[in-house]
Amino acid sequence: MTLSSGIKKAILDSDVVIVGAGLFGLTCANLLVQNQKLKVLILEKRGHIGGNAYSYFEEHTGIEVHKYGSHLFHTSNAKVWDYVNQFTAFNDYRHVVYSVHKNELFSLPVNLQTMSQIYREVLTPNQARARIQADSIHELSDDNFESKAISSIGKTLYESLFRGYTQKQWQLDPRLLPASVFGRLPVRFNLDNSYFNDRYQGLPINGYEAWFKSMVANDMIRVELNTDFFDLKKFIQDQNKTVIYTGPIDRYFQYQFGTLGWRTLDFETEILDMPDFQGTSVVNYPDLDVKFTRIHEFRHLHPERTYSNNQTVVMREYSRQAGQDDEPYYPVNSQEDREKLAKYRKLQELESNTFFGGRLGSYLYLDMHMAIASAMNMVESEVLPCL
Ligand code: FDA
Repeated sequence: MTLSSGIKKAILDSDVVIVGAGLFGLTCANLLVQNQKLKVLILEKRGHIGGNAYSYFEEHTGIEVHKYGSHLFHTSNAKVWDYVNQFTAFNDYRHVVYSVHKNELFSLPVNLQTMSQIYREVLTPNQARARIQADSIHELSDDNFESKAISSIGKTLYESLFRGYTQKQWQLDPRLLPASVFGRLPVRFNLDNSYFNDRYQGLPINGYEAWFKSMVANDMIRVELNTDFFDLKKFIQDQNKTVIYTGPIDRYFQYQFGTLGWRTLDFETEILDMPDFQGTSVVNYPDLDVKFTRIHEFRHLHPERTYSNNQTVVMREYSRQAGQDDEPYYPVNSQEDREKLAKYRKLQELESNTFFGGRLGSYLYLDMHMAIASAMNMVESEVLPCL
């Protein structure tokens, strides 16, 4: 491929090339300029910045749609919270999730209300504990998703709200998933139904895109959209440029040990002629006869906004195994994947001048605050000392 003189000049002018304008790449760019006044070039293969956290305002309704599924900002890390507040203010939104099973609405994450709905005689924390113990009596081990779930919430609750959802989400028997996947979900014996325990929570008042633009609003940062790093890799490496790579690690090494397993998502967006479809922002659908896993309704994420018309935007989410051309969303992380990853990481160590990070570069599920914290850490402890 012949490179334009504009892109060649941009590469030659830069001190650091960042691949990917997701939160990891944007944080690195911003910190390199804030701390060292370095010239940064960001290459992004999509037509927008922000990676999977990108959102846009739907033109007919004015509702902010999260293009890749609902993104709720939450953290207990004060350093990350102070950092992001330089770029945006946040609203007071606190996330809650509900689940529809056999035409009945249940409260999530599992709390006393959920237990009381499933085990009808349960009204107090002690009754709930006793009932769950009786319902999980046959589960002796805790070593996979299913056994961990049953010992934590009882067999009936697991089978109603988790077994089908997990099968749809991972297309795997839940007994083949590690216990740690269930361990990430809170289980509460009180009536607190907030989804996150974190101290700081909210959504950017003017939307995600405004936040992300303000991170790179600096003459020292140039962003090239619709640009795939692999079309420029040889030229960049011939110039011996420092690269921060946040794309998929297996693609960087031409899939030589095989592709790493990912789940991808398909989203179906619809504008409905009603002011409110489901009464809340996210509802899960665990039953196997419903093909989607959840429905997002974005207007509920910003109760402080007023909308001029009586319409709402909903998005149905479907999960499936990712092929090489699909967007990778959740790492499957099977034993086979871990073995391949170990081999890719060995090759990564041999790459001089190239730093790997972000959820794709490290093959890890990262929440936004984790991507930011990990970028801060990498810039400070690895990239700056090498420049
Ligand atoms: P991210 O994937 O965002 O960015 C990487 C960028 O690199 C992409 O834009 C990609 O196009 C680009 N790229 C890749 N290869 C390239 C190449 N060869 N050349 C140029 N560019 C290339 N987190 C949270 O805190 N709260 C939440 O509610 C959610 N919700 C949520 C829902 C869903 C459905 C998913 C999949 C994820 C979440 N997350 C989340 C996680 C959140 O999306 C995640 O933390 C960030 O996207 C991580 O940012 P990264 O920069 O690491 O990756």
